[in-house]
Parts: sequence; C-alpha cells; structure tokens
Amino acid sequence: MAIAALLAGALVPLAALAQGGASRPAARALPGLPSYTAGYASWRRINRAPIPPRRAGDAHLSTKNVYASRRPVGGRYPYGTVIVKEGVRPGSRFVGLIAVMRKVRGASPRNNNWVMIEWVRETRGARFGEIARGQVCYACHVGARANDYVFTR
Ligand code: HEC
Repeated sequence: MAIAALLAGALVPLAALAQGGASRPAARALPGLPSYTAGYASWRRINRAPIPPRRAGDAHLSTKNVYASRRPVGGRYPYGTVIVKEGVRPGSRFVGLIAVMRKVRGASPRNNNWVMIEWVRETRGARFGEIARGQVCYACHVGARANDYVFTR
C-alpha cells in the first residue's frame, strides 16, 4: 500500500516530464475568468502599440492590448476564436479589465455569433467579476461590422 502510494507519487512527475510539463506548465486563466482565456498573453497581439485611453467616452477606460487566439480567414474570425483585450486603468499598474469576444456557432447569429463579456477587478491578484455582456457590447461593436465586429486591426 505504502509502496504503491510512493510509486504513484513518483510516476506523476515523470509523466509530466514526458509531456514537457516540467518546463511548460499548463497556462491558467486569471482568477475569476473562464478557462477559455487561459494563456491569452502568449497569443498573437493584434494591436501594434498599446492603445491609450480614449479622451472621450472610452467604453474600456484603460491602456489596452488585444490578443487573438486565431487569425481571420477571408475577413472573418473562425468559430472557436477568442479575442481578449486586457486593460491597465489610469493610475494603476496591474491588469484590472478584461473584455472578451468568443465566437461560438449559433450563439448570436445577428451579431456574427460573438459572445461578449467584460470583467474588472480593483486590486492586483483579486478575482475578476463580470460587469457587462451582450447587447450593450454589440450596440457599439456593430460599428466595426466590416471587420467582423473587431475594431483593432
Ligand atoms: C461605446 C463603444 C464600445 C462599447 C459599448 C464596447 N466596446 Fe469593446 N471596444 C470598443 C473600441 C473602440 C475598441 C477598440 C480598442 C479601444 O480603443 O479600446 C474595443 C475593443 C474591444 C475588444 C478587442 C477587440 C476589438 O474590437 O478591437 C474586445 C474584446 C471588446 N472591445 C469587448 C467588449 C465587450 C465585452 C463589451 C461589452 C461589455 C464592449 N466591448 C463594449 C468600443 C466599445
């Protein structure tokens, strides 16, 4: 019994090593965010330089970077694409805002099937909490319809 437990304990790290797990641990989502956002910072960044806060009516008041899990094909992002915008709000030095578009077949045919949700947190390391989703997002992003609802290009 004790030997079996010891062996099992030894085998798990070996299996992780065999998969290259020791050097590349699986990415984890930031606290409070869904697993489909895990590892977003290693995806392709689609903005050239950090996007500064807009002077008037910034819906995502912060300095932002935008990452996409997939590339568009023929001007449309494929199903399964996740686009994450992270924002560092003025006066702070941590990511306090995460806005996400995820393309799910059949989710919202009138809005190119994007599921749109935004989360914020007030301190570094805190859990993110959802602040808005859906219609309020579509209403503005429809302005980028020519680029599949994505403003950043
Ligand atoms: C009043 C307009 C407006 C509203 C409302 C809005 N956005 Fe945006 N969003 C923008 C603009 C403009 C950008 C481009 C980058 C920037 O300047 O912030 C953007 C960028 C994004 C991006 C990065 C991809 C892209 O389009 O560039 C995501 C993801 C996003 N918004 C999600 C959301 C979600 C989720 C909501 C609703 C909770 C939302 N947005 C509501 C204007 C808006």
